[in-house]
Amino acid sequence: MTSPIDATTTSAWAELDELRRTFAPDLREWFATDPGRVERYSLPLADLLIDLSKNLVTDDVLAALVRLAEQTGVAERFAEMLRGAHINTTEDRAVLHTALRRPAGSEPALVVDGQDVDHDVQAVLAEVSAFADRVRSGEWTGVTGEKVTHVVNIGIGGSDLGPVMVYEALKPLADAGIETRFVSNIDPTDIAQKTADLDPATTLFVVASKTFTTLETLTNARLARDWLWERLGAAGAIADDETARKDAVAHHFVAVSTALDRVAEFGIDPQNAFGFWDWVGGRYSVDSAIGLSLAIALGPDAFRELLAGFHSVDEHVRTTPLERNVPVLMGLLNVWYTNFLGAQSHAVLPYAQQLSRFPAYLQQLTMESNGKSVRWDGTPVTTDTGEVFWGEPGTNGQHAFYQLIHQGTRLIPADFIAFVNPAYPLTDGGRDVHGLLLSNFLAQTKALAFGKTAQEVEAEGTTGPLVAARTFPGNRPTTSLFAPALTPAVLGQLIALYEHITFTQGAVWGINSFDQWGVELGKQLALQIAPAIEGDADATAAQDASTRSLLEYYRAHR
Ligand code: F6P
Repeated sequence: MTSPIDATTTSAWAELDELRRTFAPDLREWFATDPGRVERYSLPLADLLIDLSKNLVTDDVLAALVRLAEQTGVAERFAEMLRGAHINTTEDRAVLHTALRRPAGSEPALVVDGQDVDHDVQAVLAEVSAFADRVRSGEWTGVTGEKVTHVVNIGIGGSDLGPVMVYEALKPLADAGIETRFVSNIDPTDIAQKTADLDPATTLFVVASKTFTTLETLTNARLARDWLWERLGAAGAIADDETARKDAVAHHFVAVSTALDRVAEFGIDPQNAFGFWDWVGGRYSVDSAIGLSLAIALGPDAFRELLAGFHSVDEHVRTTPLERNVPVLMGLLNVWYTNFLGAQSHAVLPYAQQLSRFPAYLQQLTMESNGKSVRWDGTPVTTDTGEVFWGEPGTNGQHAFYQLIHQGTRLIPADFIAFVNPAYPLTDGGRDVHGLLLSNFLAQTKALAFGKTAQEVEAEGTTGPLVAARTFPGNRPTTSLFAPALTPAVLGQLIALYEHITFTQGAVWGINSFDQWGVELGKQLALQIAPAIEGDADATAAQDASTRSLLEYYRAHR
């Protein structure tokens, strides 16, 4: 690997810094004097329309940002990723989630580190599809011969957030009479509540874990196995012996992992395990076999359509010049806001209830990827990196935190995502309810951009101190992402878009967006503290004063 380029030493950075000094954004003025702005800043991306015009950016700034991408080698780094270079330096791994969505028969074939990647990806996809079909059709049954009606995906982080987000987004397409639930938290409430009303005879558990070592997932998988044995036993559905219990696991547990040996140790038949590879990061894995629960619920065709959506955006990134490359431009705008205009967070506001888990999904994607203080060669970064991503579906957010976005003191760039056609076309007294949702989407981006001046407030008859309170400063940046409908393909496009936005920012900052060492310390300490929770005096004495005091409180209130 070459050394990362320090973005702050480039001439483009200096140029941007100079532009920032005199930057006086005025969206009202820009829209009034530049009739071509919207057309210039509206870009197609597969099925999506991306309107960047309400961002705090001028042609000069955008051109300098593109130069920054050139000077920091964003395109070269993307090419390195696609061909399987070990850009995940700290784990010495290739980063090939884009290979998971290459169509069958792509030329030239992708061979990395001696592995025929295309062949292996297609082979697992075929296994996933075949298994999903068997469960959907009822050919696969539980131990009592009944069809599966409920799938419970047990996983956490990337082995949960992607599947649950996509399931919620595409649930209207779930057509096989199979409900899917997701258990992730080690808080026993999660599994207790998700299994409370289930019939074990018709429940299939998918244990999804890249490493198959994750404490939360393995604990929940063992709890699920105990629950299965206990409930089936109590119903007289299985005998009270080892063979019957093994048979029950074989019918009700499947696994997705890169560690198939550990899957077998857990007692899951390797025949019922679906693999993937260390070059798929957890937060980039929804399009691998980790999507098994999705292929079951939505059908293999919908899953493949999702993959095709991802691929269309990969192709866009690969073939489009930087100045028209949508994920690159959106990543560069985030750099502009973070490093030059002082933004610390970024809101993602889907005007679609189906995308209720999209902000949570993006939190892992963006913050686990770019929450780094050292570059890929171990040297400290010289500028701020990853911003805090957050959000809620509109219009719920409007009645909660939008106040701060409209009138607060902080700059919060926001992405608004909306769809022309609803999944449920309901009317209220003849009025299209989805139309009301979309009116809000349009109204909010307009209010944020153009605000309301004191003169406009006064013209409505307001006087005195209330004028200031009712004034909206405007110039609050938004990007509008609009698509005809939330189809599997469009969802794949959206996810890939954010993957590549994240990639672009990481490339500019010179960081490794594909490791996550920051989650390790807490995991280690939890293992050390567990004996103290259980009463071990030595483990308790080894803790700091605050932790000891909290442990005392715990004991006193048990
Ligand atoms: O939280 C750290 C992490 O490693 C994530 O990156 C990952 O998605 C999650 O844990 C789950 O890991 P696994 O799939 O190995 O159980």
